Amino acid sequence: MNYARLRLRCFKSLFFLSLFLLAGLILQFSGTSLSPRMSAAEPEDTQAAYVSASAVKRADQTEHIMGVTAADCKKCHPSEVATWMKTVHFQSPELRLYKFDGNTKKYATAMGLTSAEMLGDSLCADCHGTKAVRDGQVKVISGVSCEKCHGAAGGEEGWLNRHQSYHASMPIPRAQETAAHRAARLEFCDQAGMRRSSNIYGLSKACFKCHLVGNEKLIAAGHKAASAFDFVSWTSGELKHNFLVDKTTNADAPSLWMERTGGKPEDRRRMKYVIGTLVQLETALRLRAQTTNPAVIPQISGVIAAANGQLTQMNALAPTSELQAVTALITPMFGTLFAPLPTDKETYSQAADKVGELARQFAEQHDGSKFASLDAMINRLPPHYSQQYQEKYLKK
Ligand code: HEC
Ligand code: HEC
Ligand code: HEC
Ligand code: HEC
Repeated sequence: MNYARLRLRCFKSLFFLSLFLLAGLILQFSGTSLSPRMSAAEPEDTQAAYVSASAVKRADQTEHIMGVTAADCKKCHPSEVATWMKTVHFQSPELRLYKFDGNTKKYATAMGLTSAEMLGDSLCADCHGTKAVRDGQVKVISGVSCEKCHGAAGGEEGWLNRHQSYHASMPIPRAQETAAHRAARLEFCDQAGMRRSSNIYGLSKACFKCHLVGNEKLIAAGHKAASAFDFVSWTSGELKHNFLVDKTTNADAPSLWMERTGGKPEDRRRMKYVIGTLVQLETALRLRAQTTNPAVIPQISGVIAAANGQLTQMNALAPTSELQAVTALITPMFGTLFAPLPTDKETYSQAADKVGELARQFAEQHDGSKFASLDAMINRLPPHYSQQYQEKYLKK
């Protein structure tokens, strides 16, 4: 017992020593000053903007989805799981997949799906739940779960184990992790497809993958083409689960991100507002590129026009080269935005690539602290709750 304790002590002091040495080295090499805001642009935590294409792909691979229960997310994230279980994300399969009636039946039938097929590897289950491989088959295992937003955690190269391990062989507290270990750990997680809080671009992309519907046939059958979605409102209502540092307090911004970067909730809201709108525009442009049905085009083009309008307003209040470039690219397209043309595919996918690039650049170049002029716009965006949530938890 005593010996083990002593060994732990020695280890601990060695740790502190190496922490100081490493911190010194890192500062020397990066040549940065120690101003309090410096850490907000700390390279290790800036962005996965820049994660490899294979990481982006891995994040969405069904074979690497573990599931909340199998991965034991609840063991370490009890407050996050409890919050999630109240959301319509959690309930969606029950609302839309298990009961084969009403609009569910209408849309499924239009897509040629039977009730049983819907619960397998189906289009509906892509958005209304989480699919995973069980007994060699793809099945719906739950509602829209953690990994649909934060990236698939499983597989040999998955992020599950590494994301919470502060030392290669010993369980030590977060505060004692060396800077070098942390940098390597976060880099590993990013490249394994984990979408952490700092990855505003990646997280908002995950939302729009479901909240903008790309399937023309489904839309033609009556399914909504787009949610009335903005990334600020829709992450600050029933979705909000910022409990990492204090399990009893749902903070206004990711608590770990605030602790690590010194970022403030208002800075984060501004970044979420701009990047979220850029990603909405990028995603809608990508869908516009593949849409040919003249009855569906107006719904998608409407999203493009609205997002561009907002970005133009933002750029008037808080001008940046990125927003300037985006609106200069999109506004001239308005003449043909609503008309199907043979060149659409090329025009809109090139525009989407460019907007995506500018969104990632925006995420890298700014931290929100200088965009107070956007607050009047942002303050008009109230936290969003689903009907189900309001009825169950907000009405007295
Ligand atoms: C054994 C405990 C444990 C398990 C199991 C676990 N986590 Fe974590 N998780 C942690 C710890 C500790 C951190 C803080 C990591 C840090 O300091 O960077 C964390 C951080 C996170 C973060 C925030 C990372 C960031 O940098 O913003 C997310 C997202 C997350 N976990 C999701 C999950 C999901 C999803 C699951 C299940 C698939 C899961 N975790 C399972 C312990 C765990
Ligand atoms: C690309 C993602 C996506 C796909 C694919 C998808 N849905 Fe949806 N669905 C959504 C979203 C997002 C909403 C909520 C829209 C809102 O109100 O913001 C929704 C809402 C619904 C609703 C409730 C609203 C209504 O129109 O009655 C039903 C029912 C529904 N979907 C059924 C289906 C069925 C059945 C399928 C498969 C044939 C399907 N969905 C495929 C994303 C999707
Ligand atoms: C895997 C697909 C998927 C992803 C990813 C996803 N959502 Fe959803 N979300 C849905 C579906 C489907 C619904 C509608 C559920 C229903 O009514 O059946 C929904 C509903 C919601 C609602 C409730 C809306 C209402 O008025 O009913 C909020 C809020 C929400 N999503 C926010 C987000 C945010 C923010 C993100 C990204 C961080 C996100 N969602 C990512 C599929 C998804
Ligand atoms: C619909 C998408 C979505 C789902 C589902 C989701 N998250 Fe998140 N998560 C996010 C977003 C977006 C953020 C950043 C929130 C912000 O900016 O306020 C986040 C932040 C976090 C954080 C950081 C919180 C902090 O205080 O630093 C953790 C940890 C986390 N999520 C874990 C989980 C776990 C565990 C689950 C499943 C029970 C889960 N998330 C489900 C989108 C999601």
